[in-house]
Amino acid sequence: MINIGIVGAGNRGIRCYGIYILKEKKDVARITAISDPDRKRLEVGKKVLSLDENAIFTDTEEMLKKAPLDAVIITSPDYTHKDIAISAFNKGLDVLCEKPLALTVEDCDAILDAQKKAEKILCVGFVLRYNNFYKKMYDIVNVEKKIGKVIVAGAIDSVSTGSQYFFHGWWRLRKNSGGLLVQKATHSVDILNWIVNSRAESVYGAGGLAVFGGNQPDTKRCSSCEIKNTCPEALVSGIQWDYGEENIVMEVEDKCVFAKEIDVYDHEVLTINYENKTRAFFVESQFTPDYKREFWFIGDKGRMYGIDPYIVSEKDRKKPYIEIVYRHTRKKEVIDVKLEPGGHGGGDPGLIEDFIHCCITRKNPLADGIAGRESIAICAGGEKSIETGKITNLR
Ligand SMILES: NC(=O)c1ccc[n+]([C@@H]2O[C@H](COP(=O)([O-])OP(=O)(O)OC[C@H]3O[C@@H](n4cnc5c(N)ncnc54)[C@H](O)[C@@H]3O)[C@@H](O)[C@H]2O)c1
Repeated sequence: MINIGIVGAGNRGIRCYGIYILKEKKDVARITAISDPDRKRLEVGKKVLSLDENAIFTDTEEMLKKAPLDAVIITSPDYTHKDIAISAFNKGLDVLCEKPLALTVEDCDAILDAQKKAEKILCVGFVLRYNNFYKKMYDIVNVEKKIGKVIVAGAIDSVSTGSQYFFHGWWRLRKNSGGLLVQKATHSVDILNWIVNSRAESVYGAGGLAVFGGNQPDTKRCSSCEIKNTCPEALVSGIQWDYGEENIVMEVEDKCVFAKEIDVYDHEVLTINYENKTRAFFVESQFTPDYKREFWFIGDKGRMYGIDPYIVSEKDRKKPYIEIVYRHTRKKEVIDVKLEPGGHGGGDPGLIEDFIHCCITRKNPLADGIAGRESIAICAGGEKSIETGKITNLR
């Protein structure tokens, strides 16, 4: 039986991983403790996971010292990941750390050093690697080798939920999230790295803050704002998370998305050079009307395009598909992908299954620490390039 502690009793920690382990993994794993500085969040976690009072901690270090643990799942905010992951490794625990692994490549390296010394498992929250759409694109390129050697690749992240997700809360400050390339793009950049199957050697970026940010006071909140009924960005009611048993209202931050303090970009464009000579582009915008991820891989034998409309408005919801066009014959092949149940098209259950499997077998997870580090190298390197106007060399 693997004893697991959850750090951060929020959306990912309780609603996603905690409930899944409680319901689906009870023969091999159990949640023995949760930590969160927010007492209200702890109470929700305690109730949902049926824990005793002595299993809940407002101090993560205390939990790591006192609770019976073999592994931890780190689902606290991004800027806390590094210290908690290192502390967990120093105490001999296996670690599942949500993405981004850390805010800088130096911090990722410090985590990887601690992992190496401890000889423990490190899995990073790259749930898309466990979703059939991304697995199929990986296989077409790297197993079936249908499009030959990939020479040009690219991805566009269209994020319709930028306002709700990022600009009302702690993510909007670079010191908390590392910027939205590090926070959000790390997923799709990891998919590029995985399918291109190489390490990036340099990245060049352009970007800015065009729609969000502005001159409003940093303390201004939607709930008490005079234009809350007409502002299209206003967050007027608490977000309702479905915990399966009953709806629980989680209070989320509702700061004004036009505040002065916002210092993350809302759109970025990257050019990535890989060691194997593949060149890639990446584009992200936080204000598109629809939510989707699109990928292009152009090889010497053909071109593959894949679209994952993971969240669009229900009325327009479409299934993900992959299209291959072969170079000389111009023959077209369209592949519909069937997703597994669960969050991120089956990626959330896939990730937790792999982590628990690796804790038992001592194998390396598919989404490992190196993948976490390599994606941050590009994303943090891209943020730096936007700032300096120069190419960031990554090696
Ligand atoms: N893999 C994915 O697709 C995915 C999706 C969403 C979020 N995430 C990541 O998961 C993490 C959590 O996101 P979320 O949406 O669950 O956020 P959330 O705000 O719902 O939960 C985070 C919780 O951590 C708590 N917390 C703050 N500081 C802490 C500390 N020092 N120790 C312990 N707990 C602390 C907060 O009180 C909060 O309850 C973030 O790193 C985020 O980037 C990953």
